[in-house]
Amino acid sequence: MIKLAPSILSANFSNLSEEISKIEIGGADMVHLDIMDGHFVPNITFGMPVIKKLRKVTKLPFDVHLMIENPEKYIKDFAQAGADIITVHQESTVHLHRVIQQIKNFGIKAAVALNPSTPLTTIEYVLGDVDMVLIMTVNPGFGGQSLIRSMENKVRKLRKMIDEKGLDIDIQVDGGVKLDNLKEVVDWGANVIVAGSAVFGSDDVIEATKMFKKA
Ligand code: DX5
Ligand code: ZN
Repeated sequence: MIKLAPSILSANFSNLSEEISKIEIGGADMVHLDIMDGHFVPNITFGMPVIKKLRKVTKLPFDVHLMIENPEKYIKDFAQAGADIITVHQESTVHLHRVIQQIKNFGIKAAVALNPSTPLTTIEYVLGDVDMVLIMTVNPGFGGQSLIRSMENKVRKLRKMIDEKGLDIDIQVDGGVKLDNLKEVVDWGANVIVAGSAVFGSDDVIEATKMFKKA
């Protein structure tokens, strides 16, 4: 099954609960929450207190994408705020294996993200420990960028690695996914789709979510 995780990065921040209820009506499978610290990426978004409040307005699982330095310092806070999945960047920590275990110790799903330039070999030895791998299809930091086509080979290679090892791991793609390239990324082997501007940039967020689910 292909899962849709709309990113609220492009949503109306002054009315997040209504924005989330729209994607819930539209049939989204989870909410993608982009956490940026102004260090790991050149942008700042929001943190635990916002997630904690949002936890009360929806039943949708929270897919928390940490684009922060020293993620190990904040895993507990994000888990307690209501994250169902926490994704850390391979590039953001030298103790990736430890952080993954830390996440799993809270009884939630652990995922690892790779920037476009980071090779798959860097996660070879933690592949058996994660529930999902996020292949960034833009350089992290901003919504509304265009999909980097050369990530096709990376996603296909990862799908092969996972299948060869007989693992059950989701592949998420994040960045630049629109209705017109959705089929393509699914064909590459991705099964969890993040879409920010394509959903929340639309005049009709409910309809846009439905169209994504249908496509
Ligand atoms: C980028 C974020 C993405 C972003 C995607 O750093 O991780 O989740 O919101 O936005 P679109 O779909 O507009 O590229
Ligand atoms: Zn993201």
